[in-house]
Parts: sequence; structure tokens; C-alpha cells
Amino acid sequence: MKLAIIGYGNVGRALAKMLREKRKEFPFTITGIHTARHGTAVDPGGLPAKVIDAAELGPRAESVEEFLDAAGADVAVELTTLNPSTGEPAISHIRAAFARRMHVVTANKGPVAHAYADLRDEAACAGVGFRFESSVMDGAPVFNLWRHTMPGVKVQGFTGVLNSTSKVVIETMERGGSFEDGLAEARRMGITEGDGAYDVEGWDAAAKTAALANVLMDARTTPQQVSAKGITRLTPERMAEMRTQGKTVRLVSRGRRTASGVSLRVRAEVLDRGDLLAATPGTSNLILFHTDLMGTFGTVSIEPGVEQTAYGVFSDLVSLRG
Ligand SMILES: NC(=O)c1ccc[n+]([C@@H]2O[C@H](COP(=O)([O-])OP(=O)(O)OC[C@H]3O[C@@H](n4cnc5c(N)ncnc54)[C@H](OP(=O)(O)O)[C@@H]3O)[C@@H](O)[C@H]2O)c1
Repeated sequence: MKLAIIGYGNVGRALAKMLREKRKEFPFTITGIHTARHGTAVDPGGLPAKVIDAAELGPRAESVEEFLDAAGADVAVELTTLNPSTGEPAISHIRAAFARRMHVVTANKGPVAHAYADLRDEAACAGVGFRFESSVMDGAPVFNLWRHTMPGVKVQGFTGVLNSTSKVVIETMERGGSFEDGLAEARRMGITEGDGAYDVEGWDAAAKTAALANVLMDARTTPQQVSAKGITRLTPERMAEMRTQGKTVRLVSRGRRTASGVSLRVRAEVLDRGDLLAATPGTSNLILFHTDLMGTFGTVSIEPGVEQTAYGVFSDLVSLRG
């Protein structure tokens, strides 16, 4: 299968490394890489390893359409920066791929949070796949768990601790560091959205909450419709005080069906340190599904990094390959 990668940052490079490591069992070929400022490289026969490894790209294609036409790939892998307010330009990139009857795999939650139902229907019309496992909880199965292992179950709601950056900031403050120290640490780990403001202000969690509601509960919502507050009011002093009381804070996403649709919110919740939602360390994420037939059950991802995000994309590629 030939791949055209749009966006070649932390996730794109980790994916390229994983594809190289697994190339004997899963012979994917990267035929194009397209970025915002670092240019474009295309070879329908497969890009040379040195171009992929060193990201030494050529002049930038005029448009994503021009890039996709030149790359001649089967799958567009959309890994551009999240814009939580609009989901663009990723939504347009995905539509450009569908128009060329290309499958799409993305780690970008913007399109799922803003336009899931339309994109799902457009993919079906084009006869192609649309996969996005890494958009929530990196490579841990969330959407594929629901898609493949929960037949007949209705998701009534969910509870999640889904934003790693806010956890790193909270834990840094608990150790006596500043809010900025925590943010710098998260940036160093390559897990922030842009400059990290989207994470700590709750936008990333709101986008994930909307994406989950759209896919699992057919909510047709957007991040703007999620009642969201971030962790920006927390201070090292407040965290130290809570610690002496056996408490901590997590940015918690909650969704539930209501008589009129869905109720979605993100809040910095004060929790006992032993609470299930608080118990996992570092970048770890957790989601609980509340269902009609299976009660409450969930998935935990312990200390995921960019490799786990790359794996989510890889798993979608392997499942599209069939
Ligand atoms: N990092 C994680 O752990 C993680 C986890 C889950 C999901 N995600 C999602 O995965 C996606 C990629 O994350 P990342 O960490 O790899 O981001 P990143 O390091 O900031 O890289 C983003 C890439 O997108 C390119 N880009 C931005 N706008 C573009 C445009 N209009 N056209 C073409 N290319 C464009 C950038 O080009 P330049 O190189 O020229 O700037 C860059 O190569 C994001 O949507 C993020 O939300 C990331």
C-alpha cells in the first residue's frame, strides 16, 4: 500500500520509523511527504530512505491537491497540527483525499470533533476507509474497541482522563515546580498541542470529548458545545495543600446521553489520590465506557508517548490493508 503523509512532525517521523522497523511483515511504501514550512517530497515509486529519515524535502507543492495527485498513493495519512476551533485544514485535506478515492488515516482529532458524521458518509460514498484511532488516547484501542468488540452495545456515556499535558503540569507542581516548568516538560516530551495552551485551557480535552461523543453516541457536536474549563487556575501552593489532604486534580471529560441529546463537559476535578481516575502516573490516560449491556468497563494506557500515537496510525493502516 502506498502512503502520502500530510504533516511530518513528531508523529509523522515516529510513524516512518515504525514502518521501517516493520517493513518485512507490512510492506507499506511512502510515496510522498508534505509539510507547511519544510517543503514536499514525492516519488510514486517510493521515497528514498535518506529523504524519509533526514526529512530533506524539496520545494513545497502549491496545494494539498497537487501533492496528492503527484504522490499517487492509496492512503492519505493526515498528521497536521490540530486546530480545535475549526478542525481545518485537516478537514479539507481529508476531503481532497476522498475526492481522489484515497483511504484516510489521521491522528488529528479536529476532523472527528467537528465533522465526523459528514466525513464518515463521504468516505462511504467514495468507497474508502476513514480511520482515526490515535485521535483519542494515542494507540490504545478506543474506537476500534467499540467498532470491533462491542456488538449490540449502546454507549450511554463515558468518563475519561484524556489530556497528558495537564497531568504532567499537575505532577510537576506537586513536586514543587511551577506551572511553566510543567508545560516546558510536556513540550520537551513532544506531547503538547502547539504551544501547550490548547491543552491547559481544556481545548484538547474538549475536542476529544466531542470526538468521542460523535463516534460513540452519534452526537453531531463540536468542541465549542462542550462545557470546558482547563487547569490554568491551579498553582503549586494549591497542589501542595491538596497533597497534604490526600487529594489531587485531574482534567476529567464526561459525556452522557440526556433526554434532549448529550451533555458534555471537561473540568479540573479534585479527586482522592486513590481514585481510579487519579491513580495512573505521568502521561497515562484512561477511559471508562458506561453502557446498557456491559455496565462500565474501560481502557488504560500507561505512560504513552509519541510511539504509541504512531502505533495507533500503524494499526489503522494494517487494518485498512486487510
Ligand atoms: N504528539 C502526540 O503525542 C500526539 C498524540 C495524539 C494525537 N496527535 C495529533 O497528531 C497530529 C500531529 O501531531 P505532531 O505532534 O506530529 O505535530 P507537529 O510535530 O507539530 O507536526 C505537525 C506537522 O504538520 C505540518 N503542517 C501543519 N499545517 C500544515 C498544512 N496546512 N499543510 C501541510 N502540513 C502542515 C507541519 O509542517 P512543518 O513541519 O513545516 O511545520 C508539521 O510537519 C496533531 O493533529 C496532533 O493533535 C499527536
